[in-house]
Amino acid sequence: SLLPHGEASQIDGITLEKQTCSLWEKIWAFQARPDDLLIASYPKAGTTWTQEIVDLIQNDGDVEKSRRSPIQQRQPFLECTRATYNGVDQADAMPSPRTLKTHLPVQLVPPSFWEKNCKVIYVARNAKDNMVSYYHFQRMNKRLPDPGSWDEYFEVFLAGKVIWGSWFEHVKNWWRKKDSHPILYIFYEDMLKDPKREIRKVIEFLGKNLKEEVLDKIVYHTSFDVMKNNPMTNYTHDKHLNYKLSPFMRKGIMGDWKNQFTEAQNKKFNEDYEKHMADTSLTFCMEP
Ligand code: PPS
Repeated sequence: SLLPHGEASQIDGITLEKQTCSLWEKIWAFQARPDDLLIASYPKAGTTWTQEIVDLIQNDGDVEKSRRSPIQQRQPFLECTRATYNGVDQADAMPSPRTLKTHLPVQLVPPSFWEKNCKVIYVARNAKDNMVSYYHFQRMNKRLPDPGSWDEYFEVFLAGKVIWGSWFEHVKNWWRKKDSHPILYIFYEDMLKDPKREIRKVIEFLGKNLKEEVLDKIVYHTSFDVMKNNPMTNYTHDKHLNYKLSPFMRKGIMGDWKNQFTEAQNKKFNEDYEKHMADTSLTFCMEP
């Protein structure tokens, strides 16, 4: 893949940021606690949206409490490794109960999460929109490899050579894991279509009981426009993101891939998609 911007390296055949690989032993040895909640996703699948929903649920819909700090400080990003910050140290220093974020493929999740039987929420997004969102994110995020042109990126993504690995393997392997572990598997497209229903699922999974008016409040405060204007969820404080190229809260819609894919790319994509998804019961909605 194209490198400049941040650099990449590999762990067990999965491309990850070089800094993540440099701290890999520490990440793998991470000590989860039984009451940890893990929010897992392929990058750009709706992680931040899910994180804010969870934080508001945990705070009984108290919006002021959820504005106490930027989302990645409230919920450490496990494998994120910087000169001045890493998710493991941040999580270790945090009192329980903790909520953590990861983009790791299921086989690279530290084993203590399974040993401690931690609850996990996995959010997935259809591959085409996920790819487009990731492309724009790699353009604006100086920590990730330069995506090159859209045509170049298209090939790299399909080959699964992007950071955090193949979309196909990610969504499929997490889907399989839920047969043997408490994982709530939700979809970005469902959240767009019926946020109230999906938030209710999360509330139930977390064992909470919230009044209807609190639920309505959470739906409102986690809508795209509100989160886009909330400095605690829109990543505007992150100096490595170049907002002149693209905002973090970019469009928040389904079907934007139609503005990006050529007809030939769509055909190639559909062929590859069928092959990759032949061995799973997992299906996605790609048409709005
Ligand atoms: S990250 O960097 O991996 O944590 O990014 P992630 O949060 O997973 O994905 C960012 C995309 O999610 C969209 N988003 C939302 N869509 C609808 N409603 C809400 N509330 C919302 N919050 C974030 C965000 O706009 C990115 O998608 P695109 O397609 O690029 O707009």
